[in-house]
Amino acid sequence: MIKKLISEKDINKRVKELSELLYKKYCDDEVVFICTLKGAVFFACELLKNYKGDARLEFLRVSSYKGKKSTGKIELNLSISKENIENHNVIILEDIVDTGCTLKFLKEYIGDMNPKSLEICTLLDKKMRREVEIEADYCCFEIDDLFVVGYGLDYNQKYRNLPYIGVIE
Ligand code: IMP
Ligand code: MG
Repeated sequence: MIKKLISEKDINKRVKELSELLYKKYCDDEVVFICTLKGAVFFACELLKNYKGDARLEFLRVSSYKGKKSTGKIELNLSISKENIENHNVIILEDIVDTGCTLKFLKEYIGDMNPKSLEICTLLDKKMRREVEIEADYCCFEIDDLFVVGYGLDYNQKYRNLPYIGVIE
């Protein structure tokens, strides 16, 4: 059983607001949005559909293997070329920030390619789970320490197709 935590309507409303906020900031300056696969794909689509400015869309794929200690080992499965990043305004789109290990890795990886600017948007944030010091610049929803699925997020590759965010009961 999946219990609904955040409805599709509430997610889309919040994502549209974020999209408008970003446009107010970047105006007609082009932005390269980087969607992290696979979890952020619904978030990226909704955000981009509502974005009124010049936008490019790139994809990155990372997986995190968490040991017993607080450090996570991050593996990059799909990379991005430097020419798409260097001297561009870049916004990383993440599904959820948990320990923060993935985000820290991504920020360093993209930051090393000398973007003109770099910001991070996350759909969800489990702040109390943080193990490394890092924060997203924009977050749609802060949630408690719950394992959530839907709207792109999975549990063993299942439930990504749910249109809302839910908790497995
Ligand atoms: P971090 O490196 O611990 O911050 O992990 C972030 C990644 O773990 C996310 O991008 C997700 O892929 C996955 N993750 C963390 N919490 C959840 C959850 O509640 N549901 C589904 N995936 C999650
Ligand atoms: Mg992710």
